[in-house]
Amino acid sequence: MKKTRWLMLAVALILVAAMFAGCAGQAPPPAQQSAPAPAPAPAKVKIKVGSDTTFAPLEFIDDKGKPAGFDIDLINEVCKEANLEPEIQTLPFDGLIAGLKSGQIDVAISSMTITDERKQAINFSDVYYHSGLSVSVQAKNETIKGFADLKGKRIAVQSGTTGESEAKKVEGAKVRSFTNSDQTFMELKNGGVDAVINDYPVTAYFIAQGNADVKIVGERLTSEDYGIAVTKNNADLVTKINEGLKKVKQNGKFAEFYKKWFGEAPPADLLK
Ligand code: ARG
Repeated sequence: MKKTRWLMLAVALILVAAMFAGCAGQAPPPAQQSAPAPAPAPAKVKIKVGSDTTFAPLEFIDDKGKPAGFDIDLINEVCKEANLEPEIQTLPFDGLIAGLKSGQIDVAISSMTITDERKQAINFSDVYYHSGLSVSVQAKNETIKGFADLKGKRIAVQSGTTGESEAKKVEGAKVRSFTNSDQTFMELKNGGVDAVINDYPVTAYFIAQGNADVKIVGERLTSEDYGIAVTKNNADLVTKINEGLKKVKQNGKFAEFYKKWFGEAPPADLLK
């Protein structure tokens, strides 16, 4: 009986000792620190962005007279991520590179194909869209079945585009260059030309918008990649745009815009 009491006392003592030891081991409460004042958000840098807004669904003027489309959503979001404030202005496509060179604009987003020739004059961001050229004709045309049948024909293209360069390679063709992309399709519908060479997504969209009197013939002529164009003397801006683009590709917004304007998910390699 006595032994048990001693044992209980010993256990009790050990427990009390352990409690003290526990307290002693506890870190003292942190000294009250005044929270650091939040750093002021760095001021947004304004940039002038040029786009030829005649290229739905990538860039066009909507019912409210505002620039809209995939490229417009994309550049707005890229700028948001890069702490830039875009000011978008419409310029003819064949004036964009000159505008970048003269400093009239800092950036152009206009479904512009990355080419070696253009790279001599301007910088490009990473790729944001895989495209290519298509030949379109009137739906009732049974003689032109693709690029090979264009010899000696009248072809409408947009001035300064890869479509224009491709059309000029066709033997004996009468190439007519228009300032606006929309005009090329109007001319085709009116019978003023036999064919249009233009970017695939724009041609497909035009047909889907209630223009069943036009059709695409043959295979895509080219594989082209679009990039955001940046003036050459500003390497820092290209870096910022690329970082912003990467964030937009990774935060889900890119896929959201792609689905909204092209009705499908983007190819996986564009999300990296
Ligand atoms: N991708 C073609 C090119 O770079 C045509 C682009 C035309 N873009 C436009 N917004 N009209 O030449």
